Amino acid sequence: MIKNLKRNISLKPYNTFAIEAKAKYFTDVFSISQLKNALQFAKENNFQFKIISGGSNVLFVEQEYEFIIHILIGGIEKTFESEYEIHYKVGAGVKWHTFVKYCVNKGLGGIENLSLIPGSVGASPMQNIGAYGVEIKDVFKSLTALEISTGQLKIFSLKDCKFGYRESVFKNELKNKFIIIDVTYKLLKNPKFNISYGALSGLLEKKELSVSTISDAVISIRQSKLPDPSVIGNAGSFFKNPEVSNERFNKLKEKYPEIPSYNLENGNVKIPAGWLIETCGWKGFRKNDAGCHKHQALVLVNYGSATGNEILDLSDEIVSSVKQKFGIELQKEVNILK
Ligand code: EPU
Repeated sequence: MIKNLKRNISLKPYNTFAIEAKAKYFTDVFSISQLKNALQFAKENNFQFKIISGGSNVLFVEQEYEFIIHILIGGIEKTFESEYEIHYKVGAGVKWHTFVKYCVNKGLGGIENLSLIPGSVGASPMQNIGAYGVEIKDVFKSLTALEISTGQLKIFSLKDCKFGYRESVFKNELKNKFIIIDVTYKLLKNPKFNISYGALSGLLEKKELSVSTISDAVISIRQSKLPDPSVIGNAGSFFKNPEVSNERFNKLKEKYPEIPSYNLENGNVKIPAGWLIETCGWKGFRKNDAGCHKHQALVLVNYGSATGNEILDLSDEIVSSVKQKFGIELQKEVNILK
């Protein structure tokens, strides 16, 4: 038996979508040894377990999960300092924005554009979180993860993580094989600012640039566009922005001259999924308590008592209507927990 084992609890407070689901067994884990005990407990009892942390990128679609391990490993430790850089090793369970504020308050640059992203530090490399022209891979140094099958700790370098757009090795070939324990980031003492995102440069016009003015501007853009999960359940962007070939894009552009796009270095073109979804008429749509947000069509919302399956069904309807109209198959960004 493990300490602090809870039984038959509601998972609603543990997911930003605020979906009601139950955990038959549940445990908070604050250290590596508690994590090992929890895994041992699962093995002895032959329990299927799921790992959660901030719960900001998951959709619970089952009514009950057998065993949930909630990662709350804390700590922010300086591991390196030079004239230019500081490295911090941060526990997987630290809230991402807590760490952003910690760095912004010290005037350290690198993650100010990633202010106010919900979720935990441990989830940040999982899907290479990104916003307003910056991705976690830009400040990533290394991470420690525990291999589930052996209980061994392994260090992953930037290269090992195979980061891509909202992608990493942990969402692909190593899915469900490792649990992230801590992440080390490198922050700059003399920050290089990135205000390439249109609305950001607009808001910062005539302001003196600093990590804190940029962080404040990012926070105000997010608050104006994205629903606050503490008010209305959501998990941020539900889909990824699709990438198409230049040739395919030109054909679409002939038909839809106003289609927004970003050119990628590999010659392909990225199209905002929010525009595709809005153009199919979904923005502001609501069926029971499942809906498509009225200010940002890429975000699905739970108005109160939507089930995970109602959100999933809505997402499937959106995928098929975008496919029908544009011939593009949207990929989900949110992790559907089965
Ligand atoms: N747009 C619409 N209708 C909408 C929403 C967007 O037409 O309802 C079009 C507009 O043309 C707008 C463009 O899409 O200019 C881009 O919209 P936005 O700047 O809001 O960004 P996004 O591409 O929809 C991505 C990330 C967000 C991140 C923002 C800013 C993905 C899947 N999402 O959204 O990340 O905050 O850029 O960098 O890449 C998240 O991952 O959860 C997330 C919120």
